[in-house]
Amino acid sequence: MVIKLSAGAFAVSVCLSLAFFVGHGQPVLADGGGGKKHDVADTVKKEVAIAMKKNPRIGAALVRLLFHDCWVHGCDGSVLLDKTPDGGSTEKDAMNNIGLEGFDLIDRIKDKLGESVSCADIVVLAARDATSILSRGNIAYNVTTGRKDGVRSSAAAADAVLPPSTFNFTQLKANFAARNFTQTELVVLSGAHAVGVAHLSSFRDRLDNATATPISVRYQNALRDHVEDKTTAAVPDPTEMNNIRDMEFAFRNASGYNATGVDTSRAARGVLDNSYYHANLQNKVLFRSDWELRNDTTGAAGRDMREFRDDAAGWYVLFGKAMAKLSEIPAEGSRFEIRKNCRTTN
Ligand code: HEM
Ligand SMILES: *[C@@H]1O[C@H](CO)[C@@H](O)[C@H](O)[C@H]1NC(C)=O
Ligand SMILES: *[C@@H]1O[C@H](CO)[C@@H](O)[C@H](O)[C@H]1NC(C)=O
Ligand SMILES: *[C@@H]1O[C@H](CO)[C@@H](O)[C@H](O)[C@H]1NC(C)=O
Ligand SMILES: *[C@@H]1O[C@H](CO)[C@@H](O)[C@H](O)[C@H]1NC(C)=O
Ligand SMILES: *[C@@H]1O[C@H](CO)[C@@H](O)[C@H](O)[C@H]1NC(C)=O
Ligand SMILES: *[C@@H]1O[C@H](CO)[C@@H](O)[C@H](O)[C@H]1NC(C)=O
Ligand SMILES: *[C@@H]1O[C@H](CO)[C@@H](O)[C@H](O)[C@H]1NC(C)=O
Repeated sequence: MVIKLSAGAFAVSVCLSLAFFVGHGQPVLADGGGGKKHDVADTVKKEVAIAMKKNPRIGAALVRLLFHDCWVHGCDGSVLLDKTPDGGSTEKDAMNNIGLEGFDLIDRIKDKLGESVSCADIVVLAARDATSILSRGNIAYNVTTGRKDGVRSSAAAADAVLPPSTFNFTQLKANFAARNFTQTELVVLSGAHAVGVAHLSSFRDRLDNATATPISVRYQNALRDHVEDKTTAAVPDPTEMNNIRDMEFAFRNASGYNATGVDTSRAARGVLDNSYYHANLQNKVLFRSDWELRNDTTGAAGRDMREFRDDAAGWYVLFGKAMAKLSEIPAEGSRFEIRKNCRTTN
């Protein structure tokens, strides 16, 4: 079901119509009567909305946090740990986790919910709410609750399974296949790069012709100038917007960005929509991994991209399905608990 309503109507409609799954797949309709599941989901939704109003950046961070938690031994809250009983560096120290944010908000929500709700569930619920708000209600999906938190977390494990931005198409496909995600789901989920930011170190390869995979020359030049201006001794690794849509007019114009079919109004800045595909099909995206989706010689990934560019509603549905699937990757391991504090094991 795709909800397409104004923001106000959307908030009401979510409260009336959202369903929650409890236990193992039994859907239970929230009756609005103050049931526990409803309270938990409501609390998360409220806190995410407040945090995103204060700091719009946090929404993108929460969407990425879901991917980075669930990809590494399943949705188990392992990405949140600052330390584990065996010491050593945790997932937060992984190279591929550069720029990960949202931990303070997860802590704040945990404080409100207490010891009966796992940190893993909070990550899942918060990502869903962030997706809904970022997409202005266009992306809705159901998730289960009842996850437990894991007790393991290591930087090496995260770097071994999270895809770096320099992966080629074969590597990206294999990375997703290892998690039972299809090539189409890879293209669908990469659309999340319509929002958020990236550090220079994550796309530096694209600025130097000696290492760059093909990229729009006007975009490359604009990006090089822009990021050079921001690079200082104090800020050696500045960030840029993932989506050219979110750059100022002068930058878009200098890049020769064709905004046909993209909402570039002020209000649409930072919105999670299908504009990633408009940008990628013009070769104006930051990461090599994004570009690689164009370099599929079978043409299937390119076909998917054109389809999603031209059919926003279709992409919203598929993105919601893929996020739901991501949220249900089972935790791996043998020891679980519900953490008292999301940053440490009990
Ligand atoms: C397909 C392989 C993927 C690669 C190689 C990749 C790589 C990256 C990189 C390098 C960054 C920037 C990090 C930084 O420099 O700060 C990033 C940001 C981001 N990624 Fe991905 N990503 C992938 C898939 C995904 C998926 C599946 C999702 C979620 C469904 C996602 C959501 C995001 C979001 C929302 C951001 C912005 C985060 C923020 O602004 O805080 N990515 N990604
Ligand atoms: C969520 O679950 C409810 C109840 O089963 C269902 O009516 C609704 O269509 C589902 N929403 C989505 C987006 O799948
Ligand atoms: C992708 O990268 C892997 C690992 O570096 C390499 O073995 C493979 O040949 C590359 N594939 C293509 C099509 O470039
Ligand atoms: C793999 O993904 C497919 C399609 O998304 C799904 O139907 C199937 O249940 C998944 N299998 C496993 C083992 O997770
Ligand atoms: C990079 O290569 C393109 C052609 O592929 C060229 O037009 C452009 O001037 C080059 N940029 C630099 C900085 O050398
Ligand atoms: C946009 O870019 C074109 C081509 O570089 C330039 O001629 C034009 O003056 C720019 N327009 C504005 C309003 O900056
Ligand atoms: C911009 O894109 C639209 C549709 O994708 C196309 O019809 C139009 O010709 C393009 N404009 C330019 C200046 O390339
Ligand atoms: C693009 O795809 C072709 C065919 O699979 C491959 O040979 C080539 O190495 C790829 N290019 C890059 C830069 O990965």
